[in-house]
Amino acid sequence: MKLLVTGGAGFIGSNFIHYLMKQRPGWKIVNFDALTYAGNPANLTAADDNPDYRFVKGDISNVDEVEQVFASGFDYAVNFAAESHVDRSLYDPGLFFKTNVVGTQILLEQAKKSGVRRFLHVSTDEVYGSLGSDGYFSEESPLAPSSPYAASKASADLICGAYHKTYGFPVIVTRAGNNYGPYQFPEKLIPFFVTKAIRDESLPLYGDGLNVRDWLYVEDHCDGLLTVLEGGTDGGFYNIGGGNEMTNIEITNRILEILGKPKSLITPVKDRPGHDRRYALDCSKIKMELGWEPRTDFADGLVRTAKWYLANEKWWRDILDGAYLEFYEKHYREEDNNRERL
Ligand code: NAD
Ligand code: TYD
Repeated sequence: MKLLVTGGAGFIGSNFIHYLMKQRPGWKIVNFDALTYAGNPANLTAADDNPDYRFVKGDISNVDEVEQVFASGFDYAVNFAAESHVDRSLYDPGLFFKTNVVGTQILLEQAKKSGVRRFLHVSTDEVYGSLGSDGYFSEESPLAPSSPYAASKASADLICGAYHKTYGFPVIVTRAGNNYGPYQFPEKLIPFFVTKAIRDESLPLYGDGLNVRDWLYVEDHCDGLLTVLEGGTDGGFYNIGGGNEMTNIEITNRILEILGKPKSLITPVKDRPGHDRRYALDCSKIKMELGWEPRTDFADGLVRTAKWYLANEKWWRDILDGAYLEFYEKHYREEDNNRERL
């Protein structure tokens, strides 16, 4: 089996490549990644020695580069490549639409031309917008994205649907909840707060801290993706959730407890504009149709994740010394100074 992974140097993509090497030894994997600030070759040092793995540097929004990589022919393509952080999308929405919308359409077009047997597009529950305190999003729920990030992902989902309806192209879309685990860039809630708490820095909790996310351990997500890739129905949409609804304040308290740090590190700050209140997924489709269920208990997964960051300090310190700071200096430093405490 020959597989193209796009965005495989990021958090979920690199975990997926590691997972495939264990679960499907012998599959040939090409990782096509632009190595933006979020793409990190250090995520894949274990894969570099594998003769079945090859890295190609390239941009999904560049037609020539994408055409060239597809020229070698693939059975499967899995698209992880994206700008993925909501806060960044507030500052630079144009980049999100270029990568996540135009880039996805270019991938679909070249994949179609090259005769890929199945294309899996990795999307998010954020396309559904925000829930109140009750109910769940099913695959039939209307798309109502709030942030430029979510709107760009929703747009890409619609393009995938159109490629299936119009051209009969074999594409499947998965929509996952918030992932956590090893190799997550330390700007997302869990790794951001873990790495800050380790350094005894304050944890900027947005608003009242009562926003709810449905947390999914990254390896469970990878397992769900492989299940859908091999057994899903073309043209289908599948929710993949961990069934772990948690408020941000609850997660923050747990992180502090695991690391033995005081609650006084928590610093309430002004809310994120357009901040979705609650995400929760109804995953009965993937469970009934494909028998997939998440395996990781949230308490265990969080401890495992915190331990990974404790054991891999060089990995995240290298990041914090480099790309992240550049963005932080440009956009956040001044804002932090102006941020009113609640
Ligand atoms: P990430 O930001 O860690 O990694 C994104 C990767 O894409 C990086 O390696 C980056 O270099 C690459 N990339 C960015 N622009 C590119 C371009 N133009 N061409 C080629 N490569 C490019 O993201 P992640 O958290 O691993 O998310 C992966 C996918 O899963 C995204 O599509 C995201 O929307 C989706 N998703 C993420 C979560 C989550 O909680 N992280 C949840 C659901 C869905
Ligand atoms: P994040 O990890 O950015 O994921 P998403 O916005 O895609 O769900 O944020 C998760 C939750 O944590 C979200 O409700 C915003 C909140 N949050 C904070 O309170 N403080 C922070 O510094 C960050 C990064 C997130």
